[in-house]
Amino acid sequence: MNIDWEKLHSAATEVMKHAYAPYSNFKVGVAALVDDGRVVVGCNSENASYGVGLCAECGLISSLTASGGGRLIAVVCVDGNGDFLSPCGRCRQLLFEHGGNEMLFMTPDGPKPFSTLLPWAFGPEDLK
Ligand code: THU
Repeated sequence: MNIDWEKLHSAATEVMKHAYAPYSNFKVGVAALVDDGRVVVGCNSENASYGVGLCAECGLISSLTASGGGRLIAVVCVDGNGDFLSPCGRCRQLLFEHGGNEMLFMTPDGPKPFSTLLPWAFGPEDLK
C-alpha cells in the first residue's frame, strides 16, 4: 500500500492543535494509516488529576477500535511545532498491539520499522 507521509504529517499536525494540554503546555498529535486506507488520529488530553492524562496515542487507538479496527501500517507523531516526536514507552506498547513489528513509524531519520522502537516486544503472540 502506498504511504502518503505528507498527508499523515498534516493530519497529525492538525489534530495536535486540538490537544488539551493546559498543565504541561506540550501538545501532541498522532495520525496513522490503517490497512483499509482509513486515517485515524489522536491528541493528548490532560487532567487536573495530572497522572490520569491521556497520551495522543491512547486517543488514536480508541479511534481505531471505535471506527472498525484494522492494522496500523504507518504512524506519524508530532509535538507542538509539528516536529516528529518519539512515543513514550506505554504508547509503544499500545501501538505494537495493532501494528506489530512491521508497522512503520516516522523518525527524524525517516520511517523505521516498529521493531527498532520496541525490540523483542511482548504482544498477543506471547499469550498463545
Ligand atoms: N505525550 C503524548 O501524548 N504522547 C507521547 O508519546 C509522549 C507524551 C503527552 C503526555 C502529556 O500530555 C504531554 O505529552 C507531556 O508529557
